Amino acid sequence: MARPVCLVSGSSSGIGAAVVREFAARGHDVVVHYHTGAERAAELAAALERDFGIAPLVLGGDLARSAAAAELVDAAYAHFGRLDVLVSNSGVSSYVADASGRLARFRFHETPLDHLEREFARALELNLKGAYRLVQRGLARMLEQAAAERQRGAEPAHRSILFITSISDIAPDPTRVPYGVSKAGLSHVVLSAALEGGPQNITVNALRPGVVDTPMTRRPSGLRDPLDGHEYTVAEVYALMAAGGAQPIRRIAIPAEIAHAAYCFTQIPYMTGQLIAVDGGFTLASGFANRELFLREGQRRRAQI
Ligand SMILES: NC(=O)c1ccc[n+]([C@@H]2O[C@H](COP(=O)([O-])OP(=O)(O)OC[C@H]3O[C@@H](n4cnc5c(N)ncnc54)[C@H](OP(=O)(O)O)[C@@H]3O)[C@@H](O)[C@H]2O)c1
Repeated sequence: MARPVCLVSGSSSGIGAAVVREFAARGHDVVVHYHTGAERAAELAAALERDFGIAPLVLGGDLARSAAAAELVDAAYAHFGRLDVLVSNSGVSSYVADASGRLARFRFHETPLDHLEREFARALELNLKGAYRLVQRGLARMLEQAAAERQRGAEPAHRSILFITSISDIAPDPTRVPYGVSKAGLSHVVLSAALEGGPQNITVNALRPGVVDTPMTRRPSGLRDPLDGHEYTVAEVYALMAAGGAQPIRRIAIPAEIAHAAYCFTQIPYMTGQLIAVDGGFTLASGFANRELFLREGQRRRAQI
């Protein structure tokens, strides 16, 4: 029997690369997709071929371009003749640079409007509209397959779409509102796609990672150690915060953990329209559980008196 086929956008790096590996390891044929990382994608495909004896299809494309999503899905479909799992993962963070390319973190009320315009355009075009277009085409292809199965008198097989969104959909960060808005918008897209897919056994959900150690977070944060001046990466900042108690699980995630969750969330035929955090409890941490931090801080201060 032919293997199920899984397409993961943005699988040349970070979370996407781990997701495509997870599906390959679990018996899928896979499509490795890249934007600028053609070489990384080719290396990953070669590794998957070696490790799992499959022949991955490698496709490029800038999903911020409106025709690219349909081209990507159609090329994958033409090659394998089926699409069973679609993971919409490509994304960029906002707030990274100002017009001159320098790191810029503007607070909400200080954000220059031209910066805001640029960052909104970037984040919305790829993270929100790019993902929408990808899933729109993927869902259309899956519906075609379901219709063909019904025509043969069979109940359609379970197929699955997963958006990699973010806890930034609800966790506020005044320095990168466009990113949060793009992910919050996707939460809405998930719900509508789930309504359409459900009757044909196509489930649509969102996996909302917390902070994960990837190239996206392994870049300068703009925050320096007050003692030695070392500039922390974003991942280092959140790893220190987690270790210090900012979330119940005292570390940030590795991509393989997110990938494992992604696989699991696509295997549940009765779960659809869900927006699930895999965040080490980051989004719980502003609750009462944090009283321990305050108590500890109180003890520290008393000890100094
Ligand atoms: N890392 C985290 O802490 C974290 C937390 C929550 C959510 N997320 C989300 O997880 C997803 C993956 O992030 P990551 O951390 O793995 O980041 P990453 O390592 O920077 O990977 C981003 C991926 O998106 C692709 N991409 C970038 N621009 C693109 C474009 N215009 N068209 C098509 N593909 C494009 C990149 O392709 P090339 O490298 O080939 O250019 C790469 O494969 C993103 O949606 C991100 O928002 C990440």
